[in-house]
Amino acid sequence: MRKPFVAGNWKMNKTVEQAALLVADLLPGLEAVKTVERVICPPPTSFMVVSRLLAASDVGLGAQNLFWEESGAYTGELSVLMVKEFCKFVIIGHSERRSLFGETDDTVNLKMKSALAHDLFPILCVGESLEENESGQTGTVVARQVKKALEGIEAGVAEKIVVAYEPVWAIGTGKAASPETANEISRDVVRKNLAECFGANIAAKIRILYGGSVNKQNAADFFSQSDIDGGLIGGASLKAEEFVGIVDAAA
Ligand code: 13P
Repeated sequence: MRKPFVAGNWKMNKTVEQAALLVADLLPGLEAVKTVERVICPPPTSFMVVSRLLAASDVGLGAQNLFWEESGAYTGELSVLMVKEFCKFVIIGHSERRSLFGETDDTVNLKMKSALAHDLFPILCVGESLEENESGQTGTVVARQVKKALEGIEAGVAEKIVVAYEPVWAIGTGKAASPETANEISRDVVRKNLAECFGANIAAKIRILYGGSVNKQNAADFFSQSDIDGGLIGGASLKAEEFVGIVDAAA
């Protein structure tokens, strides 16, 4: 019922020229898999070039962040309207934004509301740190992140939301979570809290992704879980063969 969803978060990688080369490498493989919603999220300097390269395909373009105001005196920020000029999707509340750039549950909530008000499809990232995991707080932390991010959002727009469960300790470490544990958090914490916010019917339609050291070898084990509907891919999204292999696994 839920269409599989795989997004590549390129993070702060690729110049314009490198981005164009990577998209050219990715496109044939990505275009072949229509049963999966495929999205790439390059840095904003490449939005123009990449959006042109994707124009004739059904591969979506996403941003890695936005600022909730439309314009104004916010030096260095990328406004929701600027994102909207090029992108259909936007990653919100990535753990690197939270830990390195001071994002909080409150700013994540403002970004979610702004994205939805402008008809963008937000990819909301949640996940516990190693310390939180080891002290048994995973469920509490993830539940709080989901609830706070969604405060004040109407059920009518909720189906646009995609949630990515990304345990911080699994990001870029080569140590992925176990698929069974990731599924438990997705089902018993993320989807349960989505149901409390929007009702069970809508919660059942929202895609939940796993992220953290996914590669083409382990992807199928995650995607075969009941409540993992795809992946948010970092390092492996920068290599065409790896990313296409992950998309194939989702199909
Ligand atoms: P890696 O796939 O490199 O672990 O990164 C995951 C991630 O942070 C995607 O947003």
